[in-house]
This record gives sequence, structure tokens and C-alpha cells, in this order.
Amino acid sequence: MRNYYIAGNWKMHKTRAEAADLAAALVARLKDGKHKYLVAPGFTLLETVAPIIKGSNILLGAQNCAPEEQGAHTGETSVLQLKDLGVQVVILGHSERRHVYKEDDALINKKVKLALRQGLDVILCIGELLEEREEGRAEQVCETQTVKGLEGVQADDLSRVTLAYEPVWAIGTGKTATPEDADAIHAYVRGVIRKLYGESAAQRIIIQYGGSVKADNAAQLMAKENIDGALVGGAALKADSFVPIAKFS
Ligand code: 13P
Repeated sequence: MRNYYIAGNWKMHKTRAEAADLAAALVARLKDGKHKYLVAPGFTLLETVAPIIKGSNILLGAQNCAPEEQGAHTGETSVLQLKDLGVQVVILGHSERRHVYKEDDALINKKVKLALRQGLDVILCIGELLEEREEGRAEQVCETQTVKGLEGVQADDLSRVTLAYEPVWAIGTGKTATPEDADAIHAYVRGVIRKLYGESAAQRIIIQYGGSVKADNAAQLMAKENIDGALVGGAALKADSFVPIAKFS
């Protein structure tokens, strides 16, 4: 049985004081929560949030990392620096990284392997653009991103990888994929994992859905067989909107 995994991606929002307030509210209100939880604050907020959620049932995530361990990489943040702050998980291949900052599958794959090698867990995001969906290429795009993102990742390490299907047209737009459409892609991607790593890995891997997840659609999405959690953006910025998603029933 797969555990539900609900993650909040705070993107480029919040000051330290605001982040501390939100983290403290989530610790208090999720302590009786039954699922797996994560928050991913911006880099400058990690040191503030880390001690607040330490010892709670909420994991600390980062939103990106550099493809190299250290060195002359102005403006980048190393996995070593993230680990030093207590980060346990890193989100990689988010659509904003792919499409706004032009990260390709090879670069994302390099980051995935480095993060895993350094002992971090990974949330690998995949998802098609609207025109790719309209051209009937959603499955193919998600397959390519999955296969290339995981190239060279050993079966043993796959247990530390979560996939997040985030159709780009559903992110921050208020348009959610229908539970049926999302589940169809999740099932397809689970099949891709089956081909690469076998049946039991396919059954075990957690596939989150992301894209305008709100309190009023979370339960229907999560009811689908292949949807194992959520990667939440906008609604993760307030405890009042995130807690009902995190405690969906
Ligand atoms: P929204 O929930 O704001 O659509 O963002 C989804 C997302 O990109 C999470 O990573």
C-alpha cells in the first residue's frame, strides 16, 4: 500500500518571518495528520524553517540544486549546502525550471543523480505543455521526461524518488486536470516505471499530482488509483488552505 505524500512548494514567496509563522502553524495543525508531508521553502528561508519543523512529521525540501557538488558556479546552491541546513528532499525538473529557466532533461538527470548520491530524496517533476496535450503527445512527453530524468538511477535508489505529474497548463491557472485525465497519465507513467524497474517498483513508486490542487478537489484526485499525493503551489502558502488538502479524507 502506498502512503499519500502531500508537499507544499512555496516557490519564490515569503520572508523569513512569514515562513516561520506558516511552518509553525503547519507543525501544530498537521501533527495528527496521517500522511507524509513536506514543505519546500525558498533557499533563504530554509535555515529559518528547519528548526521549526525538526522532529515533526513534516520533511524539509528545497526547490532546486546545482548539478555540481561545489566550485565556481555563481548564483547556484549545492546539495552539500542544502544538507548542511537539514534539507532531506529536493524538487527537480519543476516546469518553471524547465520552461522559464530552460533546464533540459540531461541537466535535470545530472541533478537527480547527484542529489541521490548525496543522500537526498528527490521529487522529479514531469508534465506536458498545453499544445503538447492538444497534439495528443502528453503521454510521450511524460515518458521521455521520466526515462531521461531517471537515466542511470539504480533500482535501489528509486525508492528515494517520488514523481510529480504537473501538467504545465494546470499550474497556477485554476485549471485542474480532471481526476480521470490525471489518473490516466499516472497509470501510463507507472507503466513506464514497470518497463524500467519491474512490477514491484512500479507498485511502490509515489506519483503526486500538481496543478491547481485545492481543498475542494484534493479528495477526488486522491481517490484515483494511481494518484498518491499532491504537489501544491498556491494553496500551500496559507495553513488554512494547505491543511485541508493535507488532511483530505
Ligand atoms: P499551483 O498549485 O499553484 O497550481 O502550483 C502547482 C505547482 O507548480 C507545485 O509545484
